[in-house]
Amino acid sequence: MKLETKLVHSGENNSSSGLKPVAEPIVLSTNFKFDFLGEEKEFQYSRVGNPNRSMLERKLAEIEFGVAAFAFSSGMAAISSVIQSLPANSMILSPRDLYGGSFHVFETYFRPLGYKFHYADNILAALEEQSRHGRKVSPPKADDSARRDLAEKIDLIFVESPTNPFLKIIDLKRLSILAHKIGAMVCVDNTFATPSLQNPILLGADIVVHSATKFLGGHSDITAGAVVVKSAEFGKRIGFVQKSLGAVLPPFDSFLLARSIQTLDVRVRRQSQNAKAIAEFLKRNKKIGEVYYPAFESEFKKTDQMKLPGAVVTIELKSYSQAKTFTKNLKLFKIAESLGGVESIVNHTWSMSHDVMPPKVKEEMGITKGTLRLSIGIEAEEDLIEDLEFALSKI
Ligand SMILES: Cc1ncc(COP(=O)(O)O)c(C=O)c1O
Repeated sequence: MKLETKLVHSGENNSSSGLKPVAEPIVLSTNFKFDFLGEEKEFQYSRVGNPNRSMLERKLAEIEFGVAAFAFSSGMAAISSVIQSLPANSMILSPRDLYGGSFHVFETYFRPLGYKFHYADNILAALEEQSRHGRKVSPPKADDSARRDLAEKIDLIFVESPTNPFLKIIDLKRLSILAHKIGAMVCVDNTFATPSLQNPILLGADIVVHSATKFLGGHSDITAGAVVVKSAEFGKRIGFVQKSLGAVLPPFDSFLLARSIQTLDVRVRRQSQNAKAIAEFLKRNKKIGEVYYPAFESEFKKTDQMKLPGAVVTIELKSYSQAKTFTKNLKLFKIAESLGGVESIVNHTWSMSHDVMPPKVKEEMGITKGTLRLSIGIEAEEDLIEDLEFALSKI
């Protein structure tokens, strides 16, 4: 089946109730009756399994080309479950350009437990060095902590592509080949691209994570996360973390998310079409220092791994005061944290999405107090451009 068909139909339950509803019924019961002791049942207790969550998980696995999927109560719970599935001394390599919440939980929760993290400016170059020289040929100098980190065995590569907030494209095919050469697994946070535009498992990745709170939910009314795995073996480990630690997605949210995913492709294509027109409009405006958008990246064409450039555009204004004046004068764009909904949103990256990062780290990443991340919705392109044009005329 093609993706558009899978989004609508994958995971469907064949209801045994006789009612044969077209929309999935919501099963709120936490408990399921046994007919006799020792009966083998798919559903027994809702933390371990629920029909709505299991339907959603089948859909997620199919649309991301995995063997299994796991629905969590947030994107952070999904990301944390991947790290929790590794031994506590594991080394995780990530690009510096990373969602603030992921960086925060890696550094403040997982590092004290013994996990090791290294952030590379150029992750492909770092991996190429590893696979070229190996650990023994490239001994670290005592004062070079970056090299010391990279001299260790890397267990997991954790990347976003496009990255948050600067929308850089990482060649996922090349990354997966290099990672597998040194025995590391690859986990891709596919929140920004969505399975409509990019399928990391088909490009070689082992694990895909989502903040389903964003495009998969699409209406700014569900907090959810997902993990999709390529191997049943790693799936067992994620399943254990999900069911035992219990950050599961409840039945109503599972129903709502499965329903929202049915329109994913229609929404994301429209959002991406709007975003491309807006990014081009913003690029022509002299008041804007920089416009970041996947279509403007040389890697976008070179890798050809995304079907369309997506719905997020990041801009650089010259100062915090310009960012304040600009956002205050927007009427359609809401000032808010998140992204991926049908409505257009503007996020002040320094103080909102990346607030938990230390200022020094944000500066190293290139985030300034004039950085604004726009999430483009499904409104009319002309209305959105008019809104931006008016706000820009005020700075
Ligand atoms: C790329 C990315 N990954 C993960 C998350 C975390 O997801 P959640 O807020 O659903 O926990 C976010 C949230 O903004 C995000 O942008």
